[in-house]
Amino acid sequence: MFEHITPAPADAILGLTEAFKKDPNPRKINLGVGVYKDASGRTPVLQAVRRAQERVLAQERSKSYLPIDGLPSYVAATQALLFGPQHEIVTSGRAATVQTPGGTGALRVAGDFIKRMFPEATVWLSTPTWANHANVFQAAGLQVANYPYFDPATGGVDFPSMLEALQSIPSGDVLLLHGCCHNPTGVDLSPEQWRTVAKLAGERGILPLVDFAYQGFAQGLAEDAVGLHILAEEVPEFMVASSYSKNFGLYNERTGALTLVAPTPQAGEAVRSRVKRAIRTNYSNPPAHGAKIVDAILGDRDLRHLWETEVTAMRERINRMRHLFVESLNQLGVERDFSFIVRQRGMFSYSGLTPAQVQALRERFSIYIVGSGRINVAGMTEANMDYLCQAIAQVLQDQVLQDNGAQG
Ligand code: LMR
Repeated sequence: MFEHITPAPADAILGLTEAFKKDPNPRKINLGVGVYKDASGRTPVLQAVRRAQERVLAQERSKSYLPIDGLPSYVAATQALLFGPQHEIVTSGRAATVQTPGGTGALRVAGDFIKRMFPEATVWLSTPTWANHANVFQAAGLQVANYPYFDPATGGVDFPSMLEALQSIPSGDVLLLHGCCHNPTGVDLSPEQWRTVAKLAGERGILPLVDFAYQGFAQGLAEDAVGLHILAEEVPEFMVASSYSKNFGLYNERTGALTLVAPTPQAGEAVRSRVKRAIRTNYSNPPAHGAKIVDAILGDRDLRHLWETEVTAMRERINRMRHLFVESLNQLGVERDFSFIVRQRGMFSYSGLTPAQVQALRERFSIYIVGSGRINVAGMTEANMDYLCQAIAQVLQDQVLQDNGAQG
């Protein structure tokens, strides 16, 4: 049966890491996958995580299963991190949160739940969006469609086009929004735009699903949840897929959560029971280690303080790299305006580099960028910046020469 199976194409993002690892060039740079690098180019284990991990291991007495919906204290800590511990959504019991294997796991559980409960629903994704979004929802058997989001001319949100498209989304469909640090563009909705979108979703009966994988990377842990708080004020029901891969650096521990906010505590309980069924028939119950670490950090004043300091340091380093990147390109005399990159937030920016330029950077300079032109700013360091910018300048210059040659 397997003999005639043809190979699947490489994953648009993780496939790049595989190719990068095989590349022998010592100057190679991976700006593909969204993984944070520190100033020395390493992806560190956070100090808070190290300390919490020691504590978790010292206290661990059993590897028995977690409940289907996960570690109760972790689930409670997740709700508090999203909304604040005193938020009505939390105290009323309207929110059902389940622990999931990473943010992708949360999206897939959401997809399975939607497919089972609302089989006709279409999931609406921004153009562009994370390369895996459509795959995840289609794998759950759902239809996906797109709404305009990014304006390449300004490097910002094309809000009029987005709104126009949202006005024709049928009631009962699902609208996927990025909580902050939009992946891949780094361009977020303003609070006023969130309000308009939330009101529209409420009026039209559209169910928002927020992908929230970068809390703390835009402006701050609380500041980045502003969109969620606006949704909470405007709509009775929505979902949030949380990931702790980036803000706790727990990439390979697959640590995330799905929160479903229901109109009543009773509906919340019913929803929780349905989501638990979706989990049980998929991976049965979640992995424990990452969740115990997050729980230990969020539940301890000192560890939490240390963690918040580390999140701030990651955010500030990325923002420094954004400035340095734009300055370095300017110093090299690159004419194209890249200044929008300093206005964008989070790990990613949409560079505007074409697929041909991305390919040239990879083939000639061993610089790995997603085909869409998305660059992971968190992969830049002071040490690799000159090489990176010189390579980009060269590739852009060659393009100009080629275009002139073609015209001549
Ligand atoms: C990314 O967008 O690079 C990350 O979210 C990692 C992934 O799983 O694609």
